[in-house]
Amino acid sequence: MNYARITGTGSYLPGAPVSNDALIAAYGLDSSDTWIVERTGIKARHLAAAGTTSSGLALPACQRALAAAGRRPDEVDLLIVATTTPDYIFPSTAALLQAKLGIKNGCPAFDVQAVCSGFMYALSIAEKFIRSGTHKCALVVGAEVFSRILDWRDRSTCVLFGDGAGAVVLEASAEPGILATALHADGSYSNILSAPGQMSGGQPIGDPFVRMDGQAVFKMAVKVLAEVAAEAIAAAGLSNENIDWLVPHQANIRIIQSTAKKLGLPMSRCILTVADHGNTSAASIPLAFDEGVRSGRIQAGQTVLFEGVGGGFTCGAALLKF
Ligand code: ACO
Repeated sequence: MNYARITGTGSYLPGAPVSNDALIAAYGLDSSDTWIVERTGIKARHLAAAGTTSSGLALPACQRALAAAGRRPDEVDLLIVATTTPDYIFPSTAALLQAKLGIKNGCPAFDVQAVCSGFMYALSIAEKFIRSGTHKCALVVGAEVFSRILDWRDRSTCVLFGDGAGAVVLEASAEPGILATALHADGSYSNILSAPGQMSGGQPIGDPFVRMDGQAVFKMAVKVLAEVAAEAIAAAGLSNENIDWLVPHQANIRIIQSTAKKLGLPMSRCILTVADHGNTSAASIPLAFDEGVRSGRIQAGQTVLFEGVGGGFTCGAALLKF
């Protein structure tokens, strides 16, 4: 049996953490640390300096993941970047990252866009390439400079997000790695979370900033996360008791608490970064996973559930042996 197994993780956060009070002061927001912490669990986030791109954040995350896996860049034969904030319209962020990593072996490199579920989509695609036997060593990345698409006058969205990147090396293995994945989308809910700008004649027109119906997103997220997680667990032939760690998308502590409760998992078995990172969209799951691994909490041989949800509306889950 040809499995796809995660052999290395890495992540990168730009600059110093920006506290809620510092953000409120910097943008003159009518908000408070108490409101933000109580409603979301977010205490701080990292914001990329002007000129920093998603590929620029992805580079150190990938270098760390490759070092952890003991792989050189030219051993990578598949590079997938999940991002909502690509460097350019084209080339893809993955192609730009391939050059920055110094990969000259001509491996395929492409971006995936599923907003905050993007890493789940990218991981699932990479797993299928590897299990088919055509590829052996994938670099799967989530990278965002989400701060670029925030309206800093809109307190209901701008306090929620941050910038960062996370990466995993996924390799062919005879030992079980990813046991099951599940992905879904329902475009009829595209209006509850979007950045509805458009390109016309090479210029962005309309509104390029994140717009969100917070309560509708909250309800949808709790519902579909429970469903997609259950689907992946059932597909692997396991049950909730088999899960050692939940690594959820880090949007809101209350969404994570609801999901953990539905899975019957105590919060002590959830990797949490939302307080320190905010919501880093496609980067949030690999960032949290890297933190869980590097802190020594997630150990080799343990069973880990990833689950993500985002605009589209999209969702995805993966159950794996680390
Ligand atoms: N500071 C102070 N007050 C605020 C802020 C803020 N930052 N933002 C909104 N408010 C106000 C609103 O204007 C409203 O005021 P009003 O009663 O005078 O009209 C009041 O707070 C209540 O607003 P609600 O939207 O009802 O607040 P709610 O309890 O729903 O919390 C929140 C809002 C935190 C956005 C919540 O709905 C939520 O977390 N939703 C999920 C959204 C999410 O996580 N999105 C991330 C992207 S999607 C993803 O990753 C899946």
